[in-house]
Amino acid sequence: MAKLLGGIATSHIPAIGVAMDQGLEDTPYWKTFFEAYPPVRQWLYSKEPDIVIIFYNDHGLEFFHDRKPTFAIGAAAHYENADEGWGIAEIPPVTGETELSWHIVNHLIEHDFDITVCQEMKVDHGLTVPLTLMWPGHNYGHVKVIPVAINCERHPIPKPSRSYAFGKAIGDAVRSFQGDQKVVVMGTGGLSHQLDGQRAGFINKPFDLYCMEKIVDEPELLTQYSNYELVEKAGAQGVELNMWLAMRGALGQSVTALHSSYHLPISNTGAGVMLLEDNG
Ligand code: DHB
Ligand code: FE
Repeated sequence: MAKLLGGIATSHIPAIGVAMDQGLEDTPYWKTFFEAYPPVRQWLYSKEPDIVIIFYNDHGLEFFHDRKPTFAIGAAAHYENADEGWGIAEIPPVTGETELSWHIVNHLIEHDFDITVCQEMKVDHGLTVPLTLMWPGHNYGHVKVIPVAINCERHPIPKPSRSYAFGKAIGDAVRSFQGDQKVVVMGTGGLSHQLDGQRAGFINKPFDLYCMEKIVDEPELLTQYSNYELVEKAGAQGVELNMWLAMRGALGQSVTALHSSYHLPISNTGAGVMLLEDNG
């Protein structure tokens, strides 16, 4: 059976990718933020996963407000990035994976998650920035990636409890896959931030730290929030916590937090990174 090794949660702020492309990691603004990542990379490189499943939200590149799947999964041989409004980033395509993708698709439909299956799909910063954080220099081509997009922009968006259950169904699918692949799940986005409106710039550090504490052993506590409550507590884009919950849902009951770091602000966001090893 395929083995789920663990999960990584990280913010996916576009400015991170720009800072890496421009070699700004050691400058005063960025140094502390980037110092949190080498331990995560070390774990990842020592585990050598074959496949990374990435829960992210598409901010309008592939799915704009006019057509917005609640849950979408990629089943393509590769995925391209494209211009998100600040020029086309010249980055290599992301390598896809189709066998496990289709297995997950079948498992999800069997378990009442009626997802959108994408045999072609552009991937935005929600996916490419975390990949580049894990493999600097965009050196992620050797890893097979399954993109899983959760709607976080076009309300109504799935409830935190539903995102968590969705992640759990994907974890079950991986664990039932006939193969010896090593799999890591990632949840990208968050933590608290609001990019526009009257509360633009809103960050809630105590709430972010509470989420990072509870997601380890008591994730169900976080799934009790409504998205409305998340917007209140974490800002309009704080609902990206849903991706962290899907990642946590995919893992087993018992995990060990091997690494955890929080830094603010990066751009408009309380930036968090966590590495959870699956004890199952
Ligand atoms: C920022 C954060 C995000 O999650 C995002 O998708 C875009 C921008 C920011 O803080 O700049
Ligand atoms: Fe975002």
